[in-house]
Amino acid sequence: MTTINKITILGSGVMGHGIAQVASAAGYNIVLRDIEQTLLENAMNKIKWSLGKLVEKQKISQDDANSVYGRITPVVDLKKALQDSDLLIEAVPEDLELKKKVYAEVEKYVEDKTLYASNTSTLPIGELASLTSRPSRFIGLHFFNPPQLMPLVEVIPSRFTDNDTVSITLDLIKKIGKDPVLCKKDVVGFIVNRIFIPLVHEAAYCLERDNAKMTQIDSAVKFKMAAPMGIFELADYTGLDVIHKASNEMASRDKKVINPNPLIERLFSEKKFGQKSGTGFYDYSGEDKYGRIKLSETEAENYDPITLVAIVANNAAWLLSNGVCDRNDLDKALRLGMGFKKSPFTLAEEFGLKRVVSTLESLSNKYGEFYEPDILLKKMSLG
Ligand code: 3HC
Repeated sequence: MTTINKITILGSGVMGHGIAQVASAAGYNIVLRDIEQTLLENAMNKIKWSLGKLVEKQKISQDDANSVYGRITPVVDLKKALQDSDLLIEAVPEDLELKKKVYAEVEKYVEDKTLYASNTSTLPIGELASLTSRPSRFIGLHFFNPPQLMPLVEVIPSRFTDNDTVSITLDLIKKIGKDPVLCKKDVVGFIVNRIFIPLVHEAAYCLERDNAKMTQIDSAVKFKMAAPMGIFELADYTGLDVIHKASNEMASRDKKVINPNPLIERLFSEKKFGQKSGTGFYDYSGEDKYGRIKLSETEAENYDPITLVAIVANNAAWLLSNGVCDRNDLDKALRLGMGFKKSPFTLAEEFGLKRVVSTLESLSNKYGEFYEPDILLKKMSLG
């Protein structure tokens, strides 16, 4: 069985740099690879900032922070980055054409012992595994933003993945202090993004259809749906470029998974990517690296998030009906991956299951198939 010592991370963006940091904190030697030195400098600065925060909060000592930083080697040369690597984790942007190019290049230099993992947000793992010469040694390891703070990693084997690769990577995830949830089916969006990405699009529809303000909807999401952030706030924090790409890949594979809202396309084309670009749904000019939006219980009082509760419950029911996960894993994934303090079904019960189903039925009459209530949700509503 392969022993993991050296890990190569391909892509030093939001996810890549965070994964590098958490894996290094567990003692692994990390090579962080990107196509330009400036991108790597930016990534190393973010790691320094994050380690500084952890020291400030006395979660680690300054010596530990120095060691974590010192075990990460930024590299541009791909051949050098893959030398003697036990595991590569690909974390490049969510664009299949780009990923095809990356894997074609990787194939030139990757060694026989190296396992492949992708941190893809949505793409079926089998599709990516087929781009390599060893699909049986390929698995999905999906981290959550910020990887330094979010405990969840979705582990997604494809139909090709061998048992050894599953055990080695599950063991690795535990060693780096994360909590894995095994995704039983290789579906687009896996578990969490099947809930998160459609929710962003739906919240954007609610702005218009309910004539609501962004902070009203976000306050209701935070205070009435027991989420740690508003949904527009989270979208800006995650990056609208990431959400846009993930949405396109999801929509092109499964019409039932998402109801694309043109506002996401517009913000993306205007390069309003959220916090990282200074504007997204909200404006962050003048903010530091970690701007948060002021949300309040008073504003939450003025908005009923029934549509959002219904969308979450419906997609959650789809995951269960289709055998992607059981209810325990679903609740765990949403708690650890998105900080949801309540199960989607508990929330739906609190809002009234009958009301949730009738909301979906009237939306489906007006706007089509995407809103049709899942059979499981209908059964639950009948008690
Ligand atoms: N490293 C270290 N510290 C960090 C950090 C990082 N990367 N990011 C933030 N912090 C710090 C903050 O600066 C803050 O420090 P301060 O008190 O000195 O200002 C501290 O952590 C706590 O932050 P908050 O006060 O904002 O506290 P919260 O309780 O809200 O926790 C959170 C922050 C964990 C991010 C929480 O808001 C949360 O869980 N949000 C939801 C995140 C989420 O849903 N992520 C998943 C998105 S989907 C995804 O990633 C999938 C992808 O495929 C699209």
